[in-house]
Amino acid sequence: MKRNRKPKIRRIALSTGGGDAPGLNAVIRGVVMTAHHYGWECVGIREGYSGLLDPPKHGSGLMPLTPERVRGITHLGGTIIGTTNLGNPLYFPTRLADGRVVERDRSSELVRAFRRAKLDALVAIGGDGSLAIANVLAKKGLRVIGVPKTIDNDLSQTAATFGFDTAVSFATECIERLHTTAASHRRVIVVEVMGRYAGWIAMNAGVSGDAHVILIPEIPYRIERVAEAIRARERRGERYSMVVVAEGARPKGGHRSIIEKRAGAAERLGGIGKHVAAELSALTGKETRQIVLGHLLRGGEPTTFDRLISLRFGGAAVRAIAEGRSGVMVALAPPKVSYVPLAKVTRKIRNVPPNCDTIRTARDLGICFGD
Ligand code: F6P
Repeated sequence: MKRNRKPKIRRIALSTGGGDAPGLNAVIRGVVMTAHHYGWECVGIREGYSGLLDPPKHGSGLMPLTPERVRGITHLGGTIIGTTNLGNPLYFPTRLADGRVVERDRSSELVRAFRRAKLDALVAIGGDGSLAIANVLAKKGLRVIGVPKTIDNDLSQTAATFGFDTAVSFATECIERLHTTAASHRRVIVVEVMGRYAGWIAMNAGVSGDAHVILIPEIPYRIERVAEAIRARERRGERYSMVVVAEGARPKGGHRSIIEKRAGAAERLGGIGKHVAAELSALTGKETRQIVLGHLLRGGEPTTFDRLISLRFGGAAVRAIAEGRSGVMVALAPPKVSYVPLAKVTRKIRNVPPNCDTIRTARDLGICFGD
């Protein structure tokens, strides 16, 4: 962890990368207000690093961020500086003269663009992909602090990422609403939720929303076991069932459901809910409906928990710069916010431990995981 006691800082930059998450604007406010407190100027790089690598023809790719500009944004979903999950500077899409689009490593060019723009430090707010980029930039000599963002909660080295609590709260509310319609029609309802290769959203919302079946990537399922759990409910006179499935779930010996593979970007997952619903309908003979919550989980106002950790992360990121740190991510280590090396964070995603207390509690409650 590089630490230089008194760095000379005048102007810092912020970038938000990857999928948006509730709380991004609160982090931005936390950074800008704390930087202002230190007497530093702040700018937002538009849409990941595109504002520096591919600035718009008219106007700047940098947005000045003043205390006035970040007033009243703590509760707003999205990000006022924009984001992208297609602008990885290590594989930046570049159009050639003949019209072909190729991917180029433009990270060294990006470091030069930082210097030209007189940016003394970067606060990179993102998930594992964006933090891996931040780690490369730190190794190339930029002063970089990462902030852990993702609704998926799959980052290691932090007790929580901001955005997750909001996503789980909303998914839980949706599952609750679906109970009454499922019960009225005596149907099976399959709810697909985001989460990429981790089942945190499905598990937490499924347990909190009293789902009867939860399918997560960490516990490959057998569809016949799920059908049998539904039949057993029928025999007990419980004539409807609520199934929550994580987008990354897969059958034992089978594959996850991939919509698209993109070079330099994460795979797009989705479609498992439709598949599970069709199979359950065929196996149980019950009327079945499926719903994909998808990007609804990324929108809306952050919960109080997410607002608070986002503001704390933003403040802690700026204090880290003032203390001379670089190449670290702010992390929640309750009750404190601490710093961990970026290199450690990006090594491995955090999955649901199949034997964790929440899973054991769910099993005690009679919830089926299809195993
Ligand atoms: O990582 C956040 C996330 O919302 C995942 O849960 C999901 O798989 C992915 O992003 C979807 O991304 P996109 O914005 O490309 O649809």
